[in-house]
Amino acid sequence: MTVKTSAIAHSNIALIKYWGRSRDHDPNLNIPSNDSVSMTKYGLTDDIHLQTHTTIAFSDNYQEDTANLDGAVLTGRNMDRILRVVDPLRKHAGVDAKFKMMSSNDFPTQAGLASSSSGFAALAIATVHALGIDFTKEDISKYARLGSGSAARSIHGGFVYWNKGSSHETSFAQQICGPDEFDINAVIAIVHEGTKEVTSDVGHKSAHTSPFDGVRIRKSQEQAKEIRKAILDHDFAKVGKIAEENCKYMHAVMMTSTPPLFYWSPETLRLIRSTQEMRREGLECYFTIDAGPNVHYFCRPEDTLELQKTLEKIEGVRKTILVKPANDSQVIKKHLF
Ligand code: PMV
Repeated sequence: MTVKTSAIAHSNIALIKYWGRSRDHDPNLNIPSNDSVSMTKYGLTDDIHLQTHTTIAFSDNYQEDTANLDGAVLTGRNMDRILRVVDPLRKHAGVDAKFKMMSSNDFPTQAGLASSSSGFAALAIATVHALGIDFTKEDISKYARLGSGSAARSIHGGFVYWNKGSSHETSFAQQICGPDEFDINAVIAIVHEGTKEVTSDVGHKSAHTSPFDGVRIRKSQEQAKEIRKAILDHDFAKVGKIAEENCKYMHAVMMTSTPPLFYWSPETLRLIRSTQEMRREGLECYFTIDAGPNVHYFCRPEDTLELQKTLEKIEGVRKTILVKPANDSQVIKKHLF
């Protein structure tokens, strides 16, 4: 017998970053050192919705587990990460059958646009449903986390809080509010589309070597609570200011870890400096940057087009992607095979 299920999940951008795993737990569990907060992203530009579509089938007829992403067969570390999500779920369901998985991203993989967040969220949702497991979204979030920490947050739409917890059972994400409950948009300024030079996995391992790591963790823990309140209070300026501060704390840790990680390119710095000018001229926007050189800007929905126009004039910006908060990730009927 073959059971097949498909799901789509959206990537997310962290407002309060997850950078570094708790050193008190098995590193494979991806238990973070601090709570984090994100917005799940729906891309509004052309065909880029910032989503992953994944189909998984389990069958006694399959001889081995196979996985394919955007036409490439996954092996080694990439396959191991998939197994970290699927194996415990297979065990939970008491299923021995092998799987075939196909996945496609509608945006560049590994360019700092958080493809792993949507990828492992889609995988966890599709697998749970294919195996007929009766799980809440919070339960699914725990298994998405095993593939990639930030994927724990992509299970939900809108604005999401990942409570770091202290075990596999207690580390999962919950929705703060839905996509229509807080008016904020984002514009992503793409300055580089290639794959990242250093994966976030390397950074999660080395974050603790920075002398600023402890301060970042403590501040992030406070800021996660403050920003949750600011989101619920619809306080755009406060959300933007906290997110921008928190991004700088993470990059300070990255740059001062051993070995140091510099994700910014000259274009990234040019964008950061332009932000101050844009704000001086009355365009209220705030930036955040993940483990790559591209810059996400938050703005009020009515300022999105002006912000896009302004960013596109800045030297080094190759393209922009407009973003609004996404709906929950979900099972869909369309299969990839
Ligand atoms: O989920 P990972 O292991 O790819 O780590 C995500 C790290 C950041 O994107 C830089 C921050 C975050 O919280 O999403």
